[in-house]
Formats: sequence, structure tokens, C-alpha cells
Amino acid sequence: MRRGSVLVPEGVQEETVVPMTTDGLGAWSRTPVLSLRQVTRRYRRVEALDAVDLDVHAREVVALVGDNGAGKSTLARVVAGVEQPDAGFVEMDGAPVTISSPGAAHALGIATVFQDPALCDNLSVVANLFLGRELRVRPGGPLDEERMVREARQILDDLTTGITSVHRTVNELSNGQRQAITIARAMITRPRVVVLDEPTAALSVVQTAEVLQLVTRLREMGLGVVLISHDLADVLAVADRVEVLRHGRNNGSFDAASSSQEEIVAAITGAPGARGRAFR
Ligand SMILES: Nc1ncnc2c1ncn2[C@@H]1O[C@H](COP(=O)(O)OP(=O)(O)OP(=O)(O)O)[C@@H](O)[C@H]1O
Ligand SMILES: [Mg+2]
Repeated sequence: MRRGSVLVPEGVQEETVVPMTTDGLGAWSRTPVLSLRQVTRRYRRVEALDAVDLDVHAREVVALVGDNGAGKSTLARVVAGVEQPDAGFVEMDGAPVTISSPGAAHALGIATVFQDPALCDNLSVVANLFLGRELRVRPGGPLDEERMVREARQILDDLTTGITSVHRTVNELSNGQRQAITIARAMITRPRVVVLDEPTAALSVVQTAEVLQLVTRLREMGLGVVLISHDLADVLAVADRVEVLRHGRNNGSFDAASSSQEEIVAAITGAPGARGRAFR
């Protein structure tokens, strides 16, 4: 059966079908929630991103790996609307979008947690979550403390952060809990895609495990997640797919369940002949 340009498998109710396409291998795949198409970003003579493609589906963790300077944070900034591509474009649900500002990214449902995010140590958890986006009883009116506390509680519980009081000041929290707060803060805008730039970089083993658990939770909640990380063991523990950038270019796509660290390292370092297996 065919519905528009979409093939509907026999026996499937039409109204339950979400748009699907077939990839080159004939496998069924959903339309990605976020795609980069040939995105290029230059800084003077440096091509930080050179015709990069990336697909992220709902309920999928895509790890983005690569050596220092490979272009990972540049990609995060483009998707966050902090920088504009010099060429190429971004799609949401298969339709081209312009992410002209961080506000535009939020409106499109994209949230980004940057490397070294700043928290206000002397403020409470709830104040940090809503910093710059405080809820008010009415426009220009007093802060709606009650609603902010309720929503903060809800988000922390949904993420199963284990943070019991939203009134604690952030300087009482562990580094892992602080990272949880930055992720929870990204959830305030109810995004569909979350980009996390090195969320485990400064964490102990236990705290790293806690943050990776949060990443898994984001997937369970139906989000598309881009996890930027240097740590391949972490990446393989939670990602569905691993995308390698090298010198600003795509250099391999790996199915996390069936790929080894050695294969991915070879793609990161550019060992001769190293390429990810076709996985899309
Ligand atoms: N604002 C900027 N001005 C000039 N060059 C920049 C700028 N930002 C990044 N670059 C360059 O672009 C390239 C990609 O940098 P980017 O920070 O995206 O890499 P990365 O993969 O995030 O690296 P790391 O793992 O060290 O965080 C590098 O060569 C970097 O020096
Ligand atoms: Mg970076």
C-alpha cells in the first residue's frame, strides 16, 4: 500500500504510520528529527566543518567523536544557532530550517549543553534551571516561584537525577549532580533533540556513570541525543550509532552494538583504509 510517497507495510493501520523512508540498503528507517546536510563552517582558512552530514532520530543516541579540533563543538554551535553554516543546511523532520539564533534553536526544539557550562554556585537548583527564563505570574509581573519549583521537580524526577531538593544551592552538589542540572536546564524548553558537548569530561567514574544513565533516560523519553565525547568506552556503553569527524569531515559511521573501539579509533586517527561500515 502506498500513502503519498510513503510505502505502508501490509497489515499496518494507515493512521499509525509515521513518515518512513527506505535507505539505500532497503531497510526501514524513520525520518530523522534532525539532519545536517553538507554543512560547512570556515574560520578564516580553517574548515572547521567541511560538508558534514549527520542524522539523528527520535529515541536514538548518536555519539559524535573525533580528535581535538575535529569540529565537534563547531557542529554543536551551528545546531544551537550560535553560528551559521557557510554552506549546507539543517533539516528538522526532513524540512529545511534556518537556526538564526539560540532562541530559534529552542523554538525548533533543539537544546544544547556546551562544554564548560556555567552554573551560578550561590543560587538554588531551581534558580539555576530557570536562569534567564524565569516564569512569571503574568508578563512583567512577579516570579511564579511555585510553578518553577513544580516544573523543576518534575524535570528532575523525569530524568531520575536523584536530586531531592530543588532549594539546595548548587555549590552543595557533586560535579555529577551539577552536570545533571545543566542537562535538566536544557529540558526546560521541552526539546526534541539534545546536544551534549563532552558532558562527562571532568567527572569521576561514578559520576560519569550517572550522567550516562541520564543520557539513556533522555532516549527513553523519546528524544534524539547527540553525545559528543572523547571517551569511546562511554560512547559504546550508551550510543546506538557512532559518527566520526576528522579534520571537519565525516570519516565513518559505526553501529555501536557491533563495532569495536579499535575500528573507531582507526577512523578517528585516519588509519589507512579505515571507514565505518555503511549503517544509515
Ligand atoms: N572561533 C574560532 N575561531 C577560529 N578558529 C576556530 C574557532 N572555533 C574553532 N576553531 C577551529 O575550528 C576547528 C574545530 O574546532 P572545534 O572546537 O569545533 O573542535 P572539537 O572537535 O570540538 O575539539 P575538542 O575535542 O578540542 O573540543 C579547530 O581547528 C579550531 O581551532
Ligand atoms: Mg570541543
